[in-house]
Amino acid sequence: MNYKKTYVANPDRYAEGMMKYRQCGASSIVLPEMSLGFWWNFGGVNVYEESLAKMTYAFDHGITCFDLANNYGPPFGSAEETFGRMYADNFRAHRHEMIVTTKAGYEMWEGPYGCGSSRKMLITSLNESLQRMNLDYVDIFYSHRYDGVTPIEETMQALVDIVRSGKAIYVGLSNYPVDKLKPAVEYLEARDVHPLIYQGKYNMLTRDPEVAHFDLMTEKRMGFTAFSPVNQGLLTGKYLNGIPTDSRAGSASDRLKSLITPELVEKVRKLNDLAAQRGESLAQMATAWVLRRPEVTSVIIGPRTVEQMQDSLKAMNSAPFTDEEQRIINEILK
Ligand SMILES: NC(=O)c1ccc[n+]([C@@H]2O[C@H](COP(=O)([O-])OP(=O)(O)OC[C@H]3O[C@@H](n4cnc5c(N)ncnc54)[C@H](OP(=O)(O)O)[C@@H]3O)[C@@H](O)[C@H]2O)c1
Repeated sequence: MNYKKTYVANPDRYAEGMMKYRQCGASSIVLPEMSLGFWWNFGGVNVYEESLAKMTYAFDHGITCFDLANNYGPPFGSAEETFGRMYADNFRAHRHEMIVTTKAGYEMWEGPYGCGSSRKMLITSLNESLQRMNLDYVDIFYSHRYDGVTPIEETMQALVDIVRSGKAIYVGLSNYPVDKLKPAVEYLEARDVHPLIYQGKYNMLTRDPEVAHFDLMTEKRMGFTAFSPVNQGLLTGKYLNGIPTDSRAGSASDRLKSLITPELVEKVRKLNDLAAQRGESLAQMATAWVLRRPEVTSVIIGPRTVEQMQDSLKAMNSAPFTDEEQRIINEILK
């Protein structure tokens, strides 16, 4: 196992060519083109040393942004605990170099207050997240979703108060339909808490942000961080000949498995051929495709292994897409 027991950060982690950073909307804050996501692969069910190997590899290669949420695992909360252990053992000295995020809004604990975007949920959950992560504050706290029930004003005022309390430096929003996002952003702006960033799913198979969110981000001068660049593994070559047992669809997610239809496999095969012509893996091409948009500040990758991370990181140096390649991709994705 290639991991460091006593971690000494790579002195060249910010050297030219290691990582590229993009400015986040109106702020001077920059984010790395690749952030490391903790949704899967860092939970209590995973091997701690493998999580540490990924975390140290990421930090050693200029990844400064680590994306968490209260319920990442499994089980819920355990990805934050893994982060907290890695942080306490290895990264305390680097806290000021890190952008650590967490979120609340989806199902987390039992009972009537353990889910949704109420003030009770957001504030209680953040306090518990900080304990699990061994942190005094997070850099970005997200409202994880518009829940369809809580008034926007209640959720946004909780975010304002969280910033005022010092427990989060910035706030962000995730999974909001655009007609709810606009009043939410305006509520925050009116209280001098400019939302730094929006987090949305954006990849070759999920292009919704192109329709509305990107325009609003530009208008409001917010960053956009794109999650699931390879759609949980669908945009890789791994499902071209069946479902491997060690894959996410094979071992963990029935919902993902249900998306693997013959039509999807056909599309992915064509994309895989195009990636091969470009001299890239499909994961690399799919990640580069997300990064081609100037509205995207950072792509949150979710590698299971260090090797997958190494592969995805190459997307930063992919050749720009030619007009003909863009046309072929649009044709395949129709
Ligand atoms: N705001 C939200 O609601 C929300 C929702 C989802 C995700 N997120 C964030 O976004 C992060 C990333 O999401 P995600 O896990 O869906 O990302 P993803 O990168 O699209 O999918 C990760 C999975 O794809 C496969 N994979 C990744 N890179 C690969 C490579 N280079 N070669 C081969 N296979 C590769 C692996 O599958 P196998 O395990 O099968 O090998 C891995 O487990 C999350 O950790 C989280 O931080 C946020």
